[in-house]
Amino acid sequence: MTNELTKGLTNALTDTPNPGQRVRILTGVKPSGSLHLGNYFGAILPSVVESKRQQSEVILMCVDLHALTNRAQIREAGEHTNPLLAAYLALGFETAGNSIILQSEFPQILEIAWYLACVTNVGLLERAHAYKDAVANGKDPTCGLFYYPVLMASDILTFAAEQVPVGKDQAQHLEYASDMAGYFNSAVGSEVLRKPKPVIQDVPLIVGIDGERKMSKSYNNEIPIFGAPTVIEKRIKSITTDARGLDDPKDPDTCAIFQILKTFASAQRIEDMRERLLRGKGYGYGHAKGDLIDAHRETFGAHQALYEHYIQNPSELNKLLGPGRERAQQIASATRDRARDALGLKSTARLS
Ligand code: ADP
Ligand code: TRP
Repeated sequence: MTNELTKGLTNALTDTPNPGQRVRILTGVKPSGSLHLGNYFGAILPSVVESKRQQSEVILMCVDLHALTNRAQIREAGEHTNPLLAAYLALGFETAGNSIILQSEFPQILEIAWYLACVTNVGLLERAHAYKDAVANGKDPTCGLFYYPVLMASDILTFAAEQVPVGKDQAQHLEYASDMAGYFNSAVGSEVLRKPKPVIQDVPLIVGIDGERKMSKSYNNEIPIFGAPTVIEKRIKSITTDARGLDDPKDPDTCAIFQILKTFASAQRIEDMRERLLRGKGYGYGHAKGDLIDAHRETFGAHQALYEHYIQNPSELNKLLGPGRERAQQIASATRDRARDALGLKSTARLS
């Protein structure tokens, strides 16, 4: 499922510091709606590729608690969780040695978030972009939105993540995670929390079917990864193109059909469409759309059956995720215990 374009995606990651040692990479994804080709290219594929590398241990966290910060859709996070987990598995995420976990199943994260909040000044959170934007736009932000960077810092620090690949929009959150680790460590006088190394990824954005804006649920211009073939075909057929006719040479660089195909199709298909568009001569946009439909089916068709299987059999999904969840629970509990000890909190269960 990789081609020249997608190969470049993960190369920034895992420059292993010590040979033989695995680098722990943590990624957070919000369960916020049905998945589209933009998500596939920008988020799912990089994690899937990374999960297959020997030198990395990927913890992919479905951040359902973060998704609650949208008050209007507070009951939707749960609804989107299983489809998200099923999609990563169906698209080839390697669970052996890696983990896909659900944030709300880790109370340790919430506990450590509290410790972080108790060493962090209000001013730092007041300067957070998401919060400042909400205030500037006259919204009435919840405490949850204000606290969001603390929770995200805890996601990272609880699992002692070494690398956290994110887009530029999340760079501030990563800085905050390092800052908070520093505040905590200096408050307790020992290096309890490990500072993550940010990996800011400059992933090219896939254009949507309007041919103008980035593919996004919010613009209603997306092509789903999974779904009824008729729905996918209809979306592809409605991709906006210019007025060049059947026989005119066409520019692949400005053709949304080609730009979308390029992000997931085989090298052969990409080359074929590029040549045909450039040549024109009986190859119109309708033909290109037909080829895009075929490529979509070729790439995702087989995975669709597995995806549906997982959706219909959540117990199987949970079984597959079990070993990774166990490993992650141990890491989270170890960090929580170290933090409690460093704070000098007492345990009535461990009286000695
Ligand atoms: P949406 O814009 O549809 O709400 P999200 O913000 O939930 O999508 O996207 C989750 C992740 O998917 C992003 O962080 C990014 O990595 C990736 N992504 C989303 N849209 C695109 C796109 N058009 N091109 C490339 N990557 C994208
Ligand atoms: N805030 C991130 C986003 O909106 C999601 C996220 C939550 C995350 N916790 C994380 C990303 C931990 C990386 C690591 O995309």
